[in-house]
Amino acid sequence: MIHSDVLIIGSGVAALQLARKLSCDINVIILTKLKATDGNSNLAQGGIAAAIDIEDRPDKHYLDTLEAGRYTNDRELVKEMTEMAPSLIKEMVCDGCTFDRAKDGSLLLGLEGAHSHNRIVHSGGDATGKKVMKFLLKETMHARIIEEMVVYELLVKDGRCIGVKGKDKHGETNIFLANHVVLATGGLGQLYSFTSNAETVVGDGIALAYRAGAEVADLEFIQFHPTLLFVDGKCQGLVSEAVRGEGAFLTLQDGTRIMKNVHPMGDLAPRHIVSQTIFDYLQAGEQVFLDVRHIKEFTKKFPTITKMCEENRVNLSKGLIPIVPGCHFVMGGVKTDHYGRTSVKNLYAIGEVAYTGIHGANRLASNSLLEGLFFGKRLAEILNQTVKQASYSIIETSSRDMGTVSLPDKAVLQEKMMKHAGIVRNKKHLQEHLKWLESFQIKELISCSIDEKSKEDIQVIFMLITAWLVTKSALLREESRGGHFRGDFPSEDKGWLEKKIILKHEQEQG
Ligand code: SIN
Repeated sequence: MIHSDVLIIGSGVAALQLARKLSCDINVIILTKLKATDGNSNLAQGGIAAAIDIEDRPDKHYLDTLEAGRYTNDRELVKEMTEMAPSLIKEMVCDGCTFDRAKDGSLLLGLEGAHSHNRIVHSGGDATGKKVMKFLLKETMHARIIEEMVVYELLVKDGRCIGVKGKDKHGETNIFLANHVVLATGGLGQLYSFTSNAETVVGDGIALAYRAGAEVADLEFIQFHPTLLFVDGKCQGLVSEAVRGEGAFLTLQDGTRIMKNVHPMGDLAPRHIVSQTIFDYLQAGEQVFLDVRHIKEFTKKFPTITKMCEENRVNLSKGLIPIVPGCHFVMGGVKTDHYGRTSVKNLYAIGEVAYTGIHGANRLASNSLLEGLFFGKRLAEILNQTVKQASYSIIETSSRDMGTVSLPDKAVLQEKMMKHAGIVRNKKHLQEHLKWLESFQIKELISCSIDEKSKEDIQVIFMLITAWLVTKSALLREESRGGHFRGDFPSEDKGWLEKKIILKHEQEQG
């Protein structure tokens, strides 16, 4: 059994920012599924949004965030985050993180969809995630990082989270006890066949929390990024919105510009509008491209995307990049208060896995690394004041063994999610899909012990549980808003503006 004061599950920007901001005398352990850099943060291209320019203001950033989120955001949090964004960047710069600068030494500020001003701070052109992760990993030397540990159960005693169980690379169970357990596991992109997300991102944090009796909220709000490189019938990775910020536009093979007359912001409209427009063209049998012909010094500005195109035999000299939309981000998640506290005592959630309400129905571009930095710091402030030595010993868990359950093939699950709970949804498809998911004994998967399952099976079990929660939520919200589009309820409905879809598993007693 391994003890710590603070146990963090996941090793992305939110996790590392938390570890970095915790006092050095606090014993911190970070558990991560593969290598520390194998998650989504490392893949982030765009950057970090912050109203830094002299002509920009946090209240403009605030309004853009609300508009993208279709006004369902938690306004107080948005206000605090957008006001704090410039100082979060400044702190990193002072601590040695380098961002791209103009010749005069000022920070270069990019533009992305739905932003009214250039405010995206970036590093290494389109390698911001990599650079920021490298910086944060250096800054968290005082934390112990344990790699290749698949966390599969949260230990809860008397309504309080006291630790976790994880399987190491040999498949052996390890028990970690802690005073405070923090989920920073990221989102769920790999539930879908088209995604920008890393292989590791399958929604485990949501499944872990739900199994442990924590509330999850608004999981129907899923962002589909409009431009993922599409080659050989597969998504090959993200083509940053910053490319459209530099002037690229969406076009059909014959040169028709598809975003003209759809939205006043054209190709830089909010992501759900752009993705839904592309989806309609794809359904009609068209192929959609990103025209980058007139971007000067494309290779220099976007080295990561250039490399990805070359590896996939896309000839950039022709200037047309084939794209499709794919799952990028989940706005819903494990429900928390303004500081990351979940409905289970001493269990916290920060970063994409959390639902704080900050993004509303759709996240504004480059607000995700910002969210990680903001909530990592915020949670550290309260944990620095409350951490005490762990005083709990392990309890025997009494849940029944699951026995043999048949599990679906991962690829089939991903395709079905894309088809039935993807960019456009409707009651009939969602109901059919829910029925299919439930045919895998979801109730058993939620309430029985998975101690005896392999790491591979555990991943599929977590995918099934999370897919089921997304599908159920999507069925319940009978309107369209942001990242949730219902073909049978195609408009926003004021009656839904204030409503959240909160799901919670009631544990069996005795
Ligand atoms: C992008 O670079 O287009 C993605 C950035 C983000 O999701 O915020």
